[in-house]
Formats: sequence, structure tokens, C-alpha cells
Amino acid sequence: MLKITGGQHLSGTVEISGSKNASLPIIAASLLLEKVTLHNVPRIGDIFSLLEIIVSLGVIVDFTGNRLTMDMTAISLRNMDRELMKKIRASILLLSPLLYRFGTVDIPFPGGCNIGKRPIDEHLNGLREIGYDSVDGSESIHLSGTLQAGDKNLYAGFAVTATENLITANVLRSGKTRIHLAAIEPHVVNLVDFLKKQGANITINYDHTIDIVGVENINPAGEFSIGYDYIESGTFVVFGALCSEEYIDIHHACISGLTSFLGKCHEVGVRFQDLGNDTLRVFRSEHLKAVKFQTNVFPGFPTDLQSVFCILLSQAEGVSRVQEIMFEGRLNFLVELEKMKGHPALMNPHEALIFGPTHLRGATVSSWDLRA
Ligand code: EPU
Repeated sequence: MLKITGGQHLSGTVEISGSKNASLPIIAASLLLEKVTLHNVPRIGDIFSLLEIIVSLGVIVDFTGNRLTMDMTAISLRNMDRELMKKIRASILLLSPLLYRFGTVDIPFPGGCNIGKRPIDEHLNGLREIGYDSVDGSESIHLSGTLQAGDKNLYAGFAVTATENLITANVLRSGKTRIHLAAIEPHVVNLVDFLKKQGANITINYDHTIDIVGVENINPAGEFSIGYDYIESGTFVVFGALCSEEYIDIHHACISGLTSFLGKCHEVGVRFQDLGNDTLRVFRSEHLKAVKFQTNVFPGFPTDLQSVFCILLSQAEGVSRVQEIMFEGRLNFLVELEKMKGHPALMNPHEALIFGPTHLRGATVSSWDLRA
């Protein structure tokens, strides 16, 4: 439970953390190697849960400050914590590295935030295409087989973790892989940078394809620094606009990853200034105006910033229209905004109106997903 006393103003500088959604696939892909040190890993619940699963696989983990070391020498499937795997979405990222190591894997369907259906067909189609057969079961994902050599065309449907799984699955496969409709979110790029540093041959193209030329080996020992979290940064942009005394400065603001989001902030009337060196100054902003926006795949407006942007819009004059194309449960948090005396109207699972400005009041609310 979080208890928040309102009416406070923010000032000063905030350092953005390492990215959650980059750390998770990079930790998972590390299982291809023997020893890995990662820097700038955020100390948050999802990371601790994934590490607990990895420890149950026999990996020796030391997580001190933001430095994480993993030793995979004794990895095995014997004591895998299936209960914990059910709880977090990121456990799906273990599919590819475990298949590569053991040729077979049987894991429960992953859980995660309550934001709508989370299919995994794109993961499974791609893995089947390269040689892993699935054994149908309603309780778990069971795949086994031998990695096939040869050139392959795979399709990721712009899905983030599917793209990440298919990248990890193919770096050591003999032959060329082209992943079509690949997600190219900054965290996907970060995973690619990590694997390239280890010797993988991966190219991200401008048309949402990713080309991988399989290599025989990658360097078994790795060290890498996780990129900063553009979603956390965007969250602070909204805090700065609504709650700062005069302004706040955001260090490691990931400005280049936030083009659509900052464009919409500008349209609403948020005042900000690029101070150079990836530092963004966000001023307290008044006389905000309603806008229309739609979530999209990168570089479109990120679904992970939709809820926080809706809070900004609750303070804007007029009627804003939100289209959440990605997840049919991700606008549900608006019922909580109503409890705070906001005026949202949910038109259908993918569309809402926000009437503003409204003076929000303290209330007891529940969080529908971590961003909300
Ligand atoms: N989809 C399919 N088939 C699939 C996979 C996805 O149709 O096999 C569809 C989904 O139904 C959805 C869309 O593709 O409409 C996006 O799903 P995606 O698989 O990309 O989501 P994800 O990989 O499960 C990641 C992030 C989410 C983020 C989404 C979208 C991680 C660990 N999670 O989820 O992050 O919202 O991409 O960008 O990277 C969060 O951090 O709060 C969070 C939920």
C-alpha cells in the first residue's frame, strides 16, 4: 500500500533508473552464457522475481546495488520454481535460452499485469519454425526438438517479448534469420546491443525487420550496462508538468526514445527544455489543452505511458480522446480516476474520453497495472 499526502511540490533533479523491460530480456539471454555482469539493473519487484526463478535453475546470483552477476555453470531444470513463473510475464523470456541449453522446456503460462489478453502465438510460431515442436497442454507451454540449420523467415507481429525471444533463439542457429514485423522498442535494441557485444551478428533495419546471421559461438563471459528507462522518464515528465514548484531536471531522460510522447506533451502545452547531455528540464505547466492520442508500436506513443498521460489530460481544458490499441484492459484504471473525482468516460475497451480540467481529490484506489 502507498499512502500519498497531496499538495506537495517537487523540485530538484531525478536520476532515471536502468530499464526494467531491457533488464528482463538481457538477464534471460544471459543464460546462453557462462558468466555475466550487468550494471545499472533497477532494484524492482519484477527483477527480483525473475532472479528468484533463475536461482531455482541453479544460477548463482549476486545483486549488489545495481550490479548483477550471474554464474550459469551449474544451470539445470531440476528445481525450477513453476509457481513464481506463473506470476510474471517475463518468465516467457526464458523459453529461448532454456530451449537452446536443454532442447526441451515445460513452463507454466506466464502471468503479469492485469491489462488484457497476453497471447504468445508469435513466440510459439517462430520457435516451431526453427525446429522446436510444441506438445499441446492447457496447463503449460511444452516445447522440445533440435534447432534446425538453414535460412528462415519469422514473423513477430510487432510483439516485444516475442521479438526478443526470437532474437535470442537464433543468434547461435546456423543459417540466416530474418524476423519480419519486429518490435524495435529501445529495450529490444538494448538486448541486440548486449548480444552483439558478445559476438552475435544482428542487424536492425529501418523497415521493422531484424537480420541475424548465426554464429558458432558467442563469448561466454559478458559485461554490459543496461540502458535507461524511457517509460520512467516519461512518468517524471508528467510529474514535473503537474507537480513541480517551478521545474524539475531529469537526468538520463532518454529524449530520443520519447519523440511521440514529448510531441503530445508539447501539443497539450507542457513546457520543457533540452539542456543537452540527455537532461530534460520540465516546467510546471498551466493552461493545458485537450488532445487526441493513440498508443502504438515504437516509435509511436508507448502504451506504457498511456495511463500517466491520461492523468495529465485530466488537468487539460476540454475533451481528450484516448485510443489504446494494444491492450483491451489498459483503460480500466480510469474507474479509479473517477473515485478521485476525475471525469473519464470509457467508450469501449479501446477508447475513452477524458473531460477536464478536474480538481482531483484523495481517495482509496487500486492499481490495475504497474504503470497505472
Ligand atoms: N500479441 C499477439 N501475439 C503474441 C504476442 C503479443 O497478438 O504472441 C499482441 C498482444 O495481444 C498485444 C500486443 O501484441 O496486443 C503487444 O503485446 P506484446 O507481446 O508486445 O507485449 P509483451 O511483450 O507481453 C511488453 C512489455 C510491456 C509492454 C508491451 C507493449 C516486457 C516485459 N513487457 O509486453 O510492458 O506494455 O511489451 O509495449 O517487455 C510494462 O512495463 O508495464 C509492460 C506491461
